[in-house]
This record gives sequence, C-alpha cells and structure tokens, in this order.
Amino acid sequence: MALWSGRFSEATDSLVSRFSESISFDRRLYPFDIQGSKAHARMLARQNIISQADADVIVAGLDGILADIEAGRFDFCEELEDIHMNIEARLTERIGQAGARLHTGRSRNDQVATDERLYLRHETDACDEALRALQRTLVDLGMAWPNVIMPGFTHLQHAQPVLFAHHLLAYVEMFGRDRERLADGRRRINRLPLGAGAIAGSTLPLDREFVAAELGFEEILRNSMDAVGDRDALIEFLSCLAIIAMHISRLAEDIVLWFSQEFAFIELGDAFTTGSSLMPQKKNPDVAELARGKTGRVYGHLMALLTTMKGLPLTYNRDMQEDKEGLFDAVDTVQLTLATMTAMLATLKPRQERMAAAASDPALMATDLAEWLVRRGTPFREAHHQVGRFVGFCAEHGLALNQATLEQMQQSIPSATAECLELFDAQRSVEARNLLGGTAPGQVARQLAFWQQRLQ
Ligand code: ARG
Repeated sequence: MALWSGRFSEATDSLVSRFSESISFDRRLYPFDIQGSKAHARMLARQNIISQADADVIVAGLDGILADIEAGRFDFCEELEDIHMNIEARLTERIGQAGARLHTGRSRNDQVATDERLYLRHETDACDEALRALQRTLVDLGMAWPNVIMPGFTHLQHAQPVLFAHHLLAYVEMFGRDRERLADGRRRINRLPLGAGAIAGSTLPLDREFVAAELGFEEILRNSMDAVGDRDALIEFLSCLAIIAMHISRLAEDIVLWFSQEFAFIELGDAFTTGSSLMPQKKNPDVAELARGKTGRVYGHLMALLTTMKGLPLTYNRDMQEDKEGLFDAVDTVQLTLATMTAMLATLKPRQERMAAAASDPALMATDLAEWLVRRGTPFREAHHQVGRFVGFCAEHGLALNQATLEQMQQSIPSATAECLELFDAQRSVEARNLLGGTAPGQVARQLAFWQQRLQ
C-alpha cells in the first residue's frame, strides 16, 4: 500500500506502478537519503517537534536499514515507488510508531533535492580525485620522457617541433580547469533544500541552519520554490562532465593517431589493447576509441535533462524524476573512462626515434627562419613572404629546406647568412622557444615541477 493512499479508494494500476517507479534506479541514493533523514530526525527532536526518544529510535533504525542495504538484505519494492518511501516504510516496520513521525515537516520534493545534492557533492569529489590521478599519470609520463621531441600539429599538419612532455602538459592544463569547474559548481551544489517542504516551507518551527550544519551544507537555499523546483545543480554538474568527456575524447583521438602505423609514435601495453577476431596481426587501441565514443552519451544526458526541464512550470513536476538515470550513467561512464584511460596511459611509451624523425623535417623550422630575420630588423610580414618564397623554390626543385645552398636561399632571402642553414634543427628550435608557456626544455621542466608539486 502506498504511503500516500489515504484519499484513494482504488489500488494503483500495475502499469502505473511500473511506469512511475524509480526504485530500480534511485536506490543508489540510499546512503544520502539515510544521512538526510538522520539529520532531519535530530533536528525535529531538538525543536521539540518529536521526542528525543523517538529521534534516537529513528536514527538507530535508519542505521540498521543502512547496514541491511549494504549487506544485500533489503528487499526493494516497486509498489513503494522510490528510495524515500522504501526506506520510510521499512523504518516503520522495524520501529513502529516512531517511524511514522520521520516525515514530519518534510516532503519527498525537498527530500529528493537534498539526496541529489549530497550525491552530487560526493561524485564531484570522486571525479576530482579521478582527474587528479589522470593528471599525475600525464605528469609522470612527461617526467619520464622530458627530452623527447615530436612534431606539434595544427590542422593535423606538421607545424613546429615541440616536446612530447609539452603536449602532455596541455592536457594537464585542460583537466586542471575541469577540476576548477567542478570545485566552483560544488559551491552551488552545497546548499540545503530541506525545510522547503513540498513547495512553501512549513508551519512547524524547523531549524534549517542545524540541518545544514549536520549535513555539511555551506548555505541554505533561500527560496523554497526554487529549492524543490530547480535542477540546475545537476545540469551544471553534467556540463562539467560533458567538458571532461570532450577533453578525454581529444586525448583519446591523439592516442589513436599516434598508435596508427602511419604515425607509430607510441607503444601501448598489451593489457590495454585488443586484438581482432579475424586479423591475427592486429593490436587495436580500443580503450581510446571507446573513451572517444562514450563522449556522445555524456553529451546526450546533458541535452536530455536540459530538454526535460525547459518547459516545466514551477515548481516540482514528476517529469523531474527523469533527471536520475542519465545523471547516474554519465557519472559511471566518466569515472570508468577516467580510470581506464589513466591506467592505459601508465603503459604508454613514446617511440622517440619515430617522433624525432617526424620532427626533423626542416619545413617545421620555417618560422624559426622568419623570426631570425625579424631579429635582424626585417618586418615580420616581409620575412614571412621571403621565407615563403624560399619554401616555394625548394618545393619546385624537389629540395628539403636544408638541402638548398646559401646562394639559393639568398635568391629568396637576400639577407640570409650561413647561420640560417643551422636553424633547421629541431632541438635548437625547441630550445629557442624559451618564454613562459613555450616548449623549451627549461620551461617545460618548470611546468612539470609546478604540476608535480600541485598534484601531491
Ligand atoms: N521519486 C521522485 C523523484 O525522483 C521523488 C519525488 C516525488 N515527489 C512527488 N511529489 N511525487 O522525483
């Protein structure tokens, strides 16, 4: 029998039970539901709304239920709809009359909003930790291979030589901002809905400050209608996950490219690659591909919730129950992806000679030549033009840039000297980019040290 059955004379149709239940998925909120209920019961006793003895029995009963659920001894029941009523009904079964006092001054509307915020806070911290582990693995990789040079790409075309560690650190920065976003969102998550009741507050003298302190909420939601009617804490968190997934996906794409025969820039451990059922020679980067592929469903969950919320009149509507499955799946997906990618990256080895060979193409140093001219007074546009002419000349004559003689170079670049011929060296090129944020070994070493210290 539903806990709200008083005004009904017919039982709920079984189709409706199946259609409206959420216990099959919101059961995972149980630790947060129990945590919230314990705080609520203690507050009710402090305010003399229920007796201290009842509160004690309620708290002990809830602890017993927590233990039962954790031990797999709890039968979740579809007729009881959701996690809130499953736990409350079981509580009253266990402790009798006192259990029927728990829901005083509370609605499932402020209860579910509270559970979700406790859950979001918990998962925010878990995602933060997973991102930190990923950053550390990237920094460790950079530290293990600090001098490896590879071509940097724009438009997936060779651009300029960079340190492999510099490339990795770009991702460390992205994941660092993802963590900043999570931390910022956490401030808005960490606000208490309880006390809002179904919509308008309560006639009972509830102490919301006390409940907030008990649950570690830093603030109290000021407007009861907003407290039960909004889901932007979820949406913001899903946005953070979507951005994280996008960053992982780009890293995954780099891995897929680097692992291809054409690049052959890296090796990956056997435990993190897979074979083909048909082609015996295959070793595929499936982990990276799946990481890239799973991004779609994370975006999808964000879009789904935005769409669910967009037309809802204030305040709570049952539509909002649809907020959970996508959220849970996004959390599971992102956390498993982070853990698997991190473990895979720990097996990554750069193939230095392949990277160095690709980076030694003298065309990658064309900018160095233009900037050499700038340092000697040529306006950049003019320098760019002269070097461009030289590149064109070499292409026409089938020469690499470092195969032309000084005289040939001077036809396009009148002020070139013998020193220019020495610029076509990737090591020299990398070392020359010695400014804050640049790829020079000293700069990169400083960035690695910065992150290593920060990630401790
Ligand atoms: N299972 C519901 C949900 O997730 C809990 C809130 C139900 N409130 C209500 N008035 N039916 O949204």
